[in-house]
Amino acid sequence: MRMVQNSTKIIIMLLAVTLPLVVGCHSNREKSDLASQDTLSDSLSKAVVTKTFDDVFQNPYEDMGLTREEYKGKVLYDHYCAVCHGKQGDGNGFNAFNLESSFNVKPFNFTDSTAMATVSQDELKKAITEGGPAVGKSQYMPPWGYTLSKEEINQVIAYILTFSKKEE
Ligand code: HEC
Repeated sequence: MRMVQNSTKIIIMLLAVTLPLVVGCHSNREKSDLASQDTLSDSLSKAVVTKTFDDVFQNPYEDMGLTREEYKGKVLYDHYCAVCHGKQGDGNGFNAFNLESSFNVKPFNFTDSTAMATVSQDELKKAITEGGPAVGKSQYMPPWGYTLSKEEINQVIAYILTFSKKEE
């Protein structure tokens, strides 16, 4: 009889300790499952409403009115050119003041549509590929023909042309 009482006590004690754990864990898991289901269905419905994965993957800058070619150019431009020419293409990248104070030359301002109109497509290509001196400009416009492919240079040109288009 004593033995039975003891083991019943032990079982009750065990239950007392483990039950809340089991129930607790279970309800917690349920809560977090629900939460993640919420955010998942939220983002799914957003994805369906706005655009497909393919759209975003192909051209994340469609909303900015860029074509895929221009968008590829933007990625290259932001990486290689913006330090001098500025993210907005206005010739005021963070390196611009150094060039101006030390060498008295300013990076070309692509938003200036009057100035842009004086530079032919061929000159743009030559300046970018071979550097400033190839078109009688400053050596502080570096050559990019070793870094970028012809295709990439065309993409960069497509992008820098958008700066002056926007100004109109
Ligand atoms: C180290 C700074 C620097 C970087 C980086 C740079 N440029 Fe320039 N760029 C200049 C300067 C300075 C000029 C102006 C040269 C002058 O007026 O004599 C210039 C001029 C130009 C011109 C005008 C050429 C002309 O015929 O008037 C183009 C186009 C150009 N850059 C494109 C680019 C592109 C595209 C990139 C990135 C792939 C780039 N630049 C990166 C400094 C830079």
